[in-house]
Amino acid sequence: MQQFGIGLAGMGNVGAGVYKHLVQNRALLRERLGCTLEIRKVAVRDPARVRPVDVPASLLTTRWEDLLDDPSIQIVVELMGRKEESLGLILGAIERKKVVVTGNKALLAEHGKEIFEAATTHASPVFFEAAVAGGIPIIKAIREAFIGNHIQSIHGIINGTSNYILSRMTDAEMSFDEALREAQEAGYAEADPSLDVNGGDAAHKAIILASLAYGFWVPADRIFVEGIESLTTSDIRFAKQFGYRVKLLGIIKSDESRGIEVRVHPTLVPEKHVLASVNGVFNALAVKGDVVGETLFYGRGAGQDATSSAVISDIAEAADALVSPRRNLGFMPHGLYGACRPIDDIESEYYLRLSVEDRPGTIAQIAGILGELSIGISSILQPESEDEGSTVPLLLMIHRATNRQIQNALQRIGLLACVKKPPRMIRVEHFS
Ligand code: HSE
Repeated sequence: MQQFGIGLAGMGNVGAGVYKHLVQNRALLRERLGCTLEIRKVAVRDPARVRPVDVPASLLTTRWEDLLDDPSIQIVVELMGRKEESLGLILGAIERKKVVVTGNKALLAEHGKEIFEAATTHASPVFFEAAVAGGIPIIKAIREAFIGNHIQSIHGIINGTSNYILSRMTDAEMSFDEALREAQEAGYAEADPSLDVNGGDAAHKAIILASLAYGFWVPADRIFVEGIESLTTSDIRFAKQFGYRVKLLGIIKSDESRGIEVRVHPTLVPEKHVLASVNGVFNALAVKGDVVGETLFYGRGAGQDATSSAVISDIAEAADALVSPRRNLGFMPHGLYGACRPIDDIESEYYLRLSVEDRPGTIAQIAGILGELSIGISSILQPESEDEGSTVPLLLMIHRATNRQIQNALQRIGLLACVKKPPRMIRVEHFS
């Protein structure tokens, strides 16, 4: 029976899970793959550190370069989650025709083009199922199961930490800070939690999904990203009154002329839509293809076991690729889709929350500005105020308009004397 050697770089939470489950399910993998997988080296920062898994000292090295120099290693698993060193390891492995497995979403989002150009030059695959949505096999679904589809849209809850925070703000009426603290204590947040709450982590994943769906590496500076840091419990409560849940969504779409849009922002999701019921640390993606129609994926987007499952599926695919070389190297570039549309041109519906003085003429002034800019109001709500002249919230649901139109309106509305604080806007998605 053929044997393939694995070099594992990184023994953090996910690395330890991969090690544990590869050993535990060794016989199952051998039966299914018709080959054996042997971990031959494990690169770590500190060999003396106590780990939850028992790795023989003879396998440990502090030099990731050792994985490249070892001819008995055919599969390099990069789980260091760093920048230069991870890129050095991946490019070095590709040059030596070792198959790469990585979950490094930030690196792929930034260097995907370079990595896959090298992979093409050396005809050596790179697999990255663990980079998006943990245990949900969304990469393989888009790459393989939907290979005969034009992807029309992907709507994804792809950051578990922010979904956890929003769920707690919605269901337990916690403040943002309280909910973030709970998420960190539960171990869901990134080492740098600002990436979870400012949309950065979801943006990395959205770039990877969009690039895979449309065949070119979408530059980070062409996508729109807004986080959840400035959401308040009152926005979440008002959204509920209108029949919506607030979710941080990655939204990826193509249009008839094969332009694409990629954005990450808090979104009002109708409470009847299935994504509105995805709570806690869970991830979910609704993918629509021109052949398959609507599909839905749900599961754990983070955590040791779910992410290990994704890495091990890539290791199995790597072994398969070593047995029979393939044309698909993990990413299939093509030129059928064009550039990413700027946010200003993108149309959406909107929720607006204004703090206004309760006086005659206030609504008329606001409605006047919206009317002049051809922006329609679909619903309006002002909780009853006790005293005329007091400051009250005014909630407006807005019909489809471009970002350019709505920003223009917000700027003008914000200058009105009857408007007491900067207006707050959240986009609304109806999935039509
Ligand atoms: N911090 C990420 C999340 C982990 O919360 O989804 C998985 O990428």
